[in-house]
Amino acid sequence: MRYSIAILASVLLFSGCKQAEKEADKELVYDMYQPSEMSLLMQQMYEHNQKIKEVILSGETPTDFPEDFLKIHTAELSSFKSRNETFEGFSHLFVESEKQIFSDSSEVDLKDRYNNTINLCLSCHQTECTGPIPKIKKLLIP
Ligand code: HEC
Repeated sequence: MRYSIAILASVLLFSGCKQAEKEADKELVYDMYQPSEMSLLMQQMYEHNQKIKEVILSGETPTDFPEDFLKIHTAELSSFKSRNETFEGFSHLFVESEKQIFSDSSEVDLKDRYNNTINLCLSCHQTECTGPIPKIKKLLIP
């Protein structure tokens, strides 16, 4: 019994995170899938970093750290996910790295600080939720 619940849980969890990749199942998934607070925050973080990338590529310096990103520490995850130590660890590293983009005392090249941050999105996703990885990779500045 326990075993089948675990399978069910992993199937549901998989479909939530696979959403971005599985075109064919999209409609079905959207019907069943109520985005969690964390999913919405992630989409927002994606769009915001896309803007930051454009600012950097236009040769300017992004100015304000988006305080909303701190919600990563509290936002509710999809029902079959839990905040484990790995998630907590990566979320702190990520927030610190994102803050560095806006630091005016950093010695590190702006593009590197930005790419380091996107690589932390990717690192966490490799452990938690691999579906959006191809999409997140597009945020990297070549
Ligand atoms: C600490 C781990 C962690 C970090 C860091 C992280 N993510 Fe996520 N991300 C997740 C988890 C877990 C989910 C699934 C959330 C859920 O289902 O509740 C997710 C979901 C997503 C989704 C899918 C949202 C949806 O359902 O449509 C996208 C896109 C995404 N993340 C992009 C990003 C981007 C871009 C960054 C960096 C700016 C980032 N993530 C950083 C763990 C992380």
